[in-house]
Amino acid sequence: MKRSTIQTLMILVLIVSVAMVMGTCASMKGKSKAMIKMPVTIKGATYEGTDACADCHEDLVKAFKGTIHGRLADFEVKGKKGCESCHGPGSVHIENDGDVAKIIRFSNVGQEGAITPGEASAICLQCHTDSVTMDWRGNEHALNDVTCTNCHKIHQDPAKGTLKMAEPELCYQCHADIRAKENYPSHHPVREGKMKCSDCHENHGSSLHNLKTDERINDLCLKCHADKQGPFTYEHAPVMEDCTICHDPHGTVADNLLKQNEPFLCLQCHHLHFHAIFNSPDPVTGNRVKPNPHSAQMAMGTRCTQCHGQIHGSDLPSLSTPSQGKALTR
Ligand code: HEC
Ligand code: HEC
Ligand code: HEC
Ligand code: HEC
Ligand code: HEC
Ligand code: HEC
Ligand code: HEC
Ligand code: HEC
Ligand code: HEC
Ligand code: HEC
Repeated sequence: MKRSTIQTLMILVLIVSVAMVMGTCASMKGKSKAMIKMPVTIKGATYEGTDACADCHEDLVKAFKGTIHGRLADFEVKGKKGCESCHGPGSVHIENDGDVAKIIRFSNVGQEGAITPGEASAICLQCHTDSVTMDWRGNEHALNDVTCTNCHKIHQDPAKGTLKMAEPELCYQCHADIRAKENYPSHHPVREGKMKCSDCHENHGSSLHNLKTDERINDLCLKCHADKQGPFTYEHAPVMEDCTICHDPHGTVADNLLKQNEPFLCLQCHHLHFHAIFNSPDPVTGNRVKPNPHSAQMAMGTRCTQCHGQIHGSDLPSLSTPSQGKALTR
């Protein structure tokens, strides 16, 4: 290669990488707030230990000893434990007779002069680096200024656990639209208390929409609905692709969590046969279904699945010719 060509190439590579870096920065700008955060500290303060807090917060210190964070052993945590592991070093707060501006507070997160939601999370994430919270930083909750203490409470009766309140009420505080859906006639038994939002959702972030699955929504559904799991000899393409093409997991007016009633559900993709459409090929199968001498009314009044009963897939050929057995009727 000629020298000048190499130089030109190098310049090109440089331009491209600069452009890429700038592109990344631009796209990260809005998100950086939630993603890169160091824990805050109080200027000039040193650690005094939990006993020093007891002088003025006696009841709180006593109650704290029964909680999961109050019972931590040294080997369980790197660095500090006790009150100051979350509230930061307390010496300046103590010297100033309990000045609340000189201690990290969680009761006013996000307000003027207080720590931000991202900073609050960073305090918890000093220790909670693995398992469920591993994917926290990129998740929709973090990106929308939701922080750990929106859902968790540290100082409360240990018998109540660490949640502020039980699911689904906890989630309904902010997701009123989902509450409305759970009240529709067809719904997963969440409001009956037989299921929780977190049976399907990983609230701390996952690679797919905070769902407890890494790759496909179907894998989540099939964990509990194994009978819909293929492979089938005769498959239905949308079922293989994504259950939520037809179903809304949170609740629907139509039966069976269907987004629409039949036949309208099916007519999004297929033609109405039984002769509303005469002998024209089905848009997705391409087959010409023989028109039926009876009426369109019959087709509209009958559920498609009355005949196509194996809508999720079948191993038996349908007893009809034009569809070569693929009609999912048995
Ligand atoms: C000299 C007494 C004193 C000591 C010692 C003391 N505090 Fe306080 N603290 C106060 C007072 C007074 C307040 C303000 C009234 C209140 O909210 O209880 C306060 C408030 C707080 C708050 C803010 C509460 C809020 O509104 O969110 C936190 C957090 C706190 N203290 C933590 C600590 C910790 C941790 C220690 C030990 C390192 C400690 N305090 C030691 C007196 C003290
Ligand atoms: C694991 C983190 C953590 C630890 C450890 C912790 N706190 Fe807190 N503290 C919080 C959070 C979060 C809040 C906000 C309310 C809540 O979630 O309970 C809070 C609230 C408070 C408040 C004000 C609200 C109230 O309940 O009166 C005081 C005072 C306080 N903490 C003092 C202490 C003291 C004293 C200790 C040690 C005995 C301690 N904290 C240990 C996280 C922590
Ligand atoms: C000093 C380290 C440390 C800090 C800071 C800390 N935690 Fe923890 N936390 C632990 C350890 C260790 C456990 C017990 C082991 C476990 O379950 O991960 C625990 C347990 C928990 C649990 C209960 C887990 C269960 O099994 O029930 C929750 C929820 C929790 N922490 C939330 C928080 C929140 C929210 C904050 C910030 C306000 C926080 N933690 C700050 C170390 C810490
Ligand atoms: C949107 C609500 C929500 C937020 C925000 C949230 N959590 Fe949780 N967390 C939960 C729920 C609900 C559970 C219990 C059900 C579960 O395991 O998913 C839980 C469980 C946990 C557990 C115990 C996991 C286990 O293995 O049993 C830890 C630890 C924890 N959370 C820490 C955190 C920390 C740290 C943050 C902030 C970085 C945080 N959580 C933010 C709702 C939340
Ligand atoms: C049976 C599993 C399942 C249960 C139970 C469930 N979800 Fe979902 N959720 C999903 C799936 C799958 C998606 C993504 C596909 C979609 O948008 O429909 C989703 C999406 C969401 C979304 C974002 C998109 C939207 O539709 O607004 C929110 C918010 C949500 N769920 C909240 C909740 C809450 C709150 C609960 C508990 C009341 C809950 N979910 C219970 C499966 C479930
Ligand atoms: C403090 C408010 C708050 C609470 C409490 C809360 N959320 Fe959210 N959640 C949000 C916000 C804000 C978003 C992002 C915008 C949106 O989708 O509404 C979000 C987004 C989501 C998403 C969409 C994730 C995605 O990638 O599409 C799911 C799923 C979700 N929340 C489930 C839950 C569940 C389950 C609970 C209860 C355990 C819960 N949330 C509690 C505020 C909250
Ligand atoms: C954690 C287990 C679990 C997961 C995951 C799950 N389901 Fe369900 N599903 C149930 C239970 C329990 C019922 C209620 C069964 C009953 O009432 O007999 C149900 C019922 C249904 C129904 C029938 C509703 C009705 O009105 O009769 C449909 C449709 C459904 N689920 C679809 C889905 C889809 C789609 C997904 C994936 C997004 C999914 N499910 C994920 C447990 C689950
Ligand atoms: C092409 C639309 C469509 C898709 C995609 C779809 N379904 Fe269905 N599903 C239906 C129809 C229509 C019904 C009601 C009639 C019936 O039972 O055959 C139903 C009923 C159900 C029921 C309740 C009745 C029963 O058979 O148990 C469950 C559970 C269910 N579907 C789960 C799933 C799962 C899991 C997936 C993804 C693997 C999925 N569905 C994908 C159309 C669909
Ligand atoms: C999102 C679009 C979509 C929806 C909604 C849908 N289908 Fe399909 N359907 C398809 C596709 C794509 C195929 C496969 C076409 C092919 O591979 O030739 C198919 C194939 C079929 C087949 C024929 C089998 C074959 O391959 O020849 C039948 C029968 C069928 N669907 C019935 C229904 C019924 C009944 C409903 C409503 C419960 C429905 N479909 C909803 C897209 C859809
Ligand atoms: C009375 C029973 C019955 C009803 C109701 C019915 N079908 Fe069919 N459908 C059949 C039969 C049988 C075939 C196979 C025709 C053939 O092979 O000659 C077929 C074929 C099809 C095919 C084409 C299959 C292929 O291979 O191309 C599609 C798509 C289809 N139906 C969709 C629907 C939709 C959508 C509805 C509701 C609007 C519906 N069907 C209602 C019995 C029915």
